[in-house]
Amino acid sequence: MLRFVTIEGGDGSGKSRQLGLLDEYLDSRGVSRLLTREPGDTPLGKQLRKLVLEGRPESLSDETELFLILADRAQHVHEVVRPAIEQGKLVMSDRFVDSTLAYQGYGRGMDLALLRRLNLVATGGTMPELTIILDCPVEVALARAAERQDRQDRQASRENRFEAEGVAFQRRVREGFLELAGAEPSRCVVVQSDGPVMATQEKLRRIIDERLHVGARR
Ligand code: TYD
Repeated sequence: MLRFVTIEGGDGSGKSRQLGLLDEYLDSRGVSRLLTREPGDTPLGKQLRKLVLEGRPESLSDETELFLILADRAQHVHEVVRPAIEQGKLVMSDRFVDSTLAYQGYGRGMDLALLRRLNLVATGGTMPELTIILDCPVEVALARAAERQDRQDRQASRENRFEAEGVAFQRRVREGFLELAGAEPSRCVVVQSDGPVMATQEKLRRIIDERLHVGARR
């Protein structure tokens, strides 16, 4: 049974747009669901999100950044994810544990085994059955992120601390996501997201449909 799906990828990989379209599609199919995201989908999380994303790249120590993100995750699972799963909803989260492994692990160089244990503390073992990783070249992704900042009110959407880390950091994050996907092929599916928006969306819909169908037959 498909109860918890996460969408992952680098900055500008198109997650939010794709999740919005997926939400419309599932709505048209009458699937009871909840769209959520990290960091920042609880009242506490909104404050933590500001602390993590605003300011200069070097304004927090790696450890401080990690604990803020884990605090957000613990509260998110407790207050949002687990209750919705228990109500029988399909929960779809924009980022989850794999972002910590990719950004704090591969990006910042923190120990992956330690991060996995801390993720386990934060989630209490609540894990997605399916993780879709949107993958596109870093140059394309960063251009998209910059475009987004131009379109929106600049004050409201300044470059976040991770986007400001630059290309080498984003490359490590991308490689990290691909390695994580390779290590867990039964949970993770990589989808290329540098083509037309609806072409990517069709792939996502097919993946979700297959899993929902399998769940219904069991
Ligand atoms: P956000 O504006 O939500 O970016 P996007 O729209 O690309 O998802 O910012 C979230 C940022 O937080 C993103 O740059 C990645 C970072 N992050 C981590 O470094 N580790 C984590 O565990 C999570 C959940 C996010």
